[in-house]
Amino acid sequence: MGRFSGKSGCCWTEQLESASYAPLHEVIEVETVIVGAGIVGLTSALKLLEAGRQVVVVEALEVGKQVTGRSSAKITTQHRLIYNELIENLGLERAREYAVANLAGVEAIKSWIAEHEIACELEAKTAYAYTLNRSVRAHLEQEAAAAQKFGITADVVEWAPLPFRTAGALRFPNQAQFNPARYLDGLARAVKALGGRIYENSRVRQIENEGCWCVVTDSGKVQARNIVVATNIPIKSPVGMANRTQPRSHAAMTFRIEDPPPIKDMFISVEEPSHSLRIGRDRTGYFLLALGPRFSTGQDGDVAAIFAELEDWVRRNLPVGDGLWHWCNEDYDTADRIPYAGQPDHENASGFYIATGFNGWGISNGTAVGMMIADCIAGRPNSWLSLYDPLRPFPNDFHESGKSQSTVSRVDQIGRGEGGVLCVGDHDIAVRRDLNGTLHTLSAACTHKGCPVTWNNADHTWDCPCHGSIFAADGSVIHGPARAPLPKVDVDL
Ligand SMILES: Cc1cc2nc3c(=O)[nH]c(=O)nc-3n(C[C@H](O)[C@H](O)[C@H](O)COP(=O)(O)OP(=O)(O)OC[C@H]3O[C@@H](n4cnc5c(N)ncnc54)[C@H](O)[C@@H]3O)c2cc1C
Ligand code: FES
Repeated sequence: MGRFSGKSGCCWTEQLESASYAPLHEVIEVETVIVGAGIVGLTSALKLLEAGRQVVVVEALEVGKQVTGRSSAKITTQHRLIYNELIENLGLERAREYAVANLAGVEAIKSWIAEHEIACELEAKTAYAYTLNRSVRAHLEQEAAAAQKFGITADVVEWAPLPFRTAGALRFPNQAQFNPARYLDGLARAVKALGGRIYENSRVRQIENEGCWCVVTDSGKVQARNIVVATNIPIKSPVGMANRTQPRSHAAMTFRIEDPPPIKDMFISVEEPSHSLRIGRDRTGYFLLALGPRFSTGQDGDVAAIFAELEDWVRRNLPVGDGLWHWCNEDYDTADRIPYAGQPDHENASGFYIATGFNGWGISNGTAVGMMIADCIAGRPNSWLSLYDPLRPFPNDFHESGKSQSTVSRVDQIGRGEGGVLCVGDHDIAVRRDLNGTLHTLSAACTHKGCPVTWNNADHTWDCPCHGSIFAADGSVIHGPARAPLPKVDVDL
């Protein structure tokens, strides 16, 4: 197991002083219920309230502390290299729609920050996608030409302004970055100020169709004409999204850096293993945020080694001091790199909306689809519906489930602070030995569709190798599609 520095937790969410909202303890009727208070859910909520509509938001955990709040929060239309690929695979018009939707998402974020005076450290930055390989320069030139077709200012420079050698970079000026957890806290306050109701710590366990949509939590219910399942990966959908998407995780770390900081702007590498960089500020000073390459959630048995590799790469390439925070974050990919959003079944499930598959670029895309769904509900035209169509064809072999990477044959193979999956009779048991040596046992079968989970030895979570559900060490759900915890089991080991 690799060693790495810093405390467990995310630099944005650990230091957030947010408003809090009571859990749902009643039965409510409303025009629209939104499940999930991330960027998609809160964007839809605010847009609907602005249109004079009624909204209730039901959040499993706390506002803004999940995927959005743990992202690197670049507000950009530079999605690594994408426009040339979209033109080649889907045609000029689709690529143009993608650019237009994301430009609109970026503008909406900036205008809400100004209008609602959200203190979220918004800063204008240049985005660079850099290469270490001179032969890739031609691709950068093609991408700049493709982006320019859609009104995006883009060019290619000889090297990226980084303290290590690069062989060229695609440059998009006038992009931005922010603190995503503070932004969502601000959006939630704006939702509340406009009459929206928000409930936290209220996980939706069931969604029923009783003539209207009914979402059920442990202590309440919301009945609504429309439902927006904005849970990053749908917890339920009339047409399944799990096989159309592929979960991916990243290791993220922050490090103290000196003032003036060694980098100013936002960077992502074009080649694998990919690295993404930006800076931020906390009460003490500047920090560097670094992301490592993607790995399939629950399909790597030594996530700690991924963090150790990331720290090693950062220390070899950038002048950093102490490690501050480390965390994993997860998003979902789609085969054509465009999210799925809208109504999956207009005829049989009218009023049921989903949004997923942001491919790691859900700040702008998530805002665009949140606005699009609000337009649909408010009966306004929106020209991105076919771009994000959740029913468009996809290759059947896109999704790849994996196996638990934590299987052990004897309980003494599990050290203090570690977890493993042990087969006892016909059952897979998720066994964790705490730091005092006490064993804790849960069913290892993910409550979504039963795949045995993998112990994440960096975040200390149980991660599902099939569709990316993540459970805390005690079995409670952190990330869906699962809605129920891993049940405790009594077993003699
Ligand atoms: C490492 C990493 C870095 C990224 N960096 C960037 C970036 O720089 N720029 C960019 O554009 N994109 C970035 N992204 C992608 C972007 O962060 C996501 O696509 C986007 O934030 C997803 O938003 P969301 O609203 O779907 O999800 P979330 O923010 O996770 O919101 C979903 C909410 O639903 C809640 N929920 C789930 N299940 C239930 C339930 N059963 N009942 C009630 N509530 C429920 C969750 O608790 C959560 O609060 C990054 C992604 C990753 C993984
Ligand atoms: S997330 Fe689908 S089986 Fe675990």
